[in-house]
Amino acid sequence: MHDDIERILLTEHELRVRVVHLAAEIAAVYAHDEPTLVAVLKGSVVFVADLIRCLPIPLRLAFVWAESYRQGTRAGRLELSGLPPEEDLRGRRVLLIDDILDSGRTLSAIRAELGSRGAREVRTCVLLDKPVRRAVELEADHVGFRVEDLFVVGYGLDFAGRYRNLPYVGALKPRVFASASGMERAP
Ligand code: IMP
Ligand code: MG
Repeated sequence: MHDDIERILLTEHELRVRVVHLAAEIAAVYAHDEPTLVAVLKGSVVFVADLIRCLPIPLRLAFVWAESYRQGTRAGRLELSGLPPEEDLRGRRVLLIDDILDSGRTLSAIRAELGSRGAREVRTCVLLDKPVRRAVELEADHVGFRVEDLFVVGYGLDFAGRYRNLPYVGALKPRVFASASGMERAP
C-alpha cells in the first residue's frame, strides 16, 4: 500500500497536532451545550475517533451514510441514508463532521436534512478543504487543513475503497488511477 503513494502531504504528527487544536476550538464553542456530532461515513471515522478523544465535553455521537463517488475520483449521484431520527435532533446543536470538503454537495445536502429534522443549529467541521473545487456555496466552520486540488487518501479517505487505514494523508501515484478499473468501489 505504501508503495502506491507518490508523496505524503500530512504526516501522522501533523495530523495529531492539528486535531488537538481543532478540538480546543470546538470545545470552546460548546462550553455550555451538549452537541450532537454527526459524522459522515465512511471517510470521517478515523478523524472523528481521534477528535472526540480530544474533546473534554459531554457530547453525543451519530453517523450518517453518504455515497457520492461512484467511479474512481468522479462524483456520482449523492445518496444519504441512516440520518438520525427527528427525536435525536430536535432543538439540538449539531456539529456535522466529514473527511473532506470538495464540491460541497455532500455537506450542504446533509446540513439541509439535519435542519429539516429540527436541529437548532448545524455547524460543520472537516479535516481537509479543497476550496478550488467548490460547486455550491459552503464554508466549513472548522477546517483542519486546506489542500491543493489533488486526490488524496489515507486517515479515513479512500480511493476505490482502499487506503483508509494509512496513518497519514498522501497523494496516489498516477499508475494507481490507471489500473483502477477492476477495483471495487465502496462508499
Ligand atoms: P463533495 O460532496 O464533493 O464535497 O465530496 C465530499 C466527499 O467526496 C468526501 O466525503 C469524500 O468521500 C469524497 N472526496 C472528495 N475528494 C476526495 C479526495 O481527494 N480523496 C478521497 N475522497 C474524496
Ligand atoms: Mg466521504
